[in-house]
Amino acid sequence: MGALAWLVLLLLLLKAKGHSGDTVDPEEVVAVLQESIRLPLEIPSDEEVENIIWSSHRRLATVVPGKKGNPATITVISPRYRGRVSFLGSSYSLQISNLSWEDAGPYQAQVNLRMSQMSIMQDYNLRVYRRLLEPQVTVNFEISGKDVCNISLTCSIEKAGMDVIYSWISLGDSTDIAHEGPILSTSWRLGENPLSYTCRASNPISKVSSRPICAGLFCADPGFSSEMASSTVCLLTKGLLLLLLLVILAVGLWVVWVQKRYQMPKVKKLKRNRMKLRKKGKPGPSLA
Ligand SMILES: *[C@@H]1O[C@H](CO)[C@@H](O)[C@H](O)[C@H]1NC(C)=O
Ligand SMILES: *[C@@H]1O[C@H](CO)[C@@H](O)[C@H](O)[C@H]1NC(C)=O
Repeated sequence: MGALAWLVLLLLLLKAKGHSGDTVDPEEVVAVLQESIRLPLEIPSDEEVENIIWSSHRRLATVVPGKKGNPATITVISPRYRGRVSFLGSSYSLQISNLSWEDAGPYQAQVNLRMSQMSIMQDYNLRVYRRLLEPQVTVNFEISGKDVCNISLTCSIEKAGMDVIYSWISLGDSTDIAHEGPILSTSWRLGENPLSYTCRASNPISKVSSRPICAGLFCADPGFSSEMASSTVCLLTKGLLLLLLLVILAVGLWVVWVQKRYQMPKVKKLKRNRMKLRKKGKPGPSLA
């Protein structure tokens, strides 16, 4: 009787040990919508595997490794994954292609070992994200009192999904100032150099930026459209500098070109004179 109790206790202990993977934090896996992801599985090479059971909420697939080099027997149980899953390498890591939103969630691999009668559990948490589209900016402004204009810029992204972090960067004269969050409130005084603002957004798989927005222009001309504000005018000061540089470069090139042009006739003349000299000199010896 005592021996049986010990055996039961031993079995319970083994079971507890075998399932110890349950308490370990699942491995976080980040994937891109409609692309592929691999859930890596590691199996100790010295252990013979009876089978591997992959599941996500419900049983997904069973892999029974083939004996002596024979191919494994794979049964995909969940119809949602049929044709989209493959099992890679000697450990049969799960690869899912053409990911959908519904594929996100917990996954588990249960590796049943033949000799020790134990199971190795590996848990995953799959998160699926979409690549972010270009951010859209909405501008609200209010002219308050003396030449002061309160501006609020709101950044948004269509179908952004979860875990999107927004920030605003204003390209100042000397330093770039960053503001956290999708809404930026700022003010602008008439006569001040207008700053240009760029919204940056990121999720775990992508980073995007809006076109620079020159918010001050809305205050200067309330009829201003956001299309125009995002283009050239705010960059006028920078643009002017660039233009000046280009002009200097062009003038420099022109000067070099003109100098070369004046040098060329001189060379030609010189050559011609030499030829004349030779011609004149040539008849000499034949006459003699
Ligand atoms: C990917 O899945 C979507 C539905 O989620 C389907 O419309 C599309 O045809 C699939 N693409 C490929 C290449 O299998
Ligand atoms: C503009 O913003 C300032 C603070 O930045 C605030 O004191 C003021 O009331 C605002 N004016 C309007 C019209 O919202």
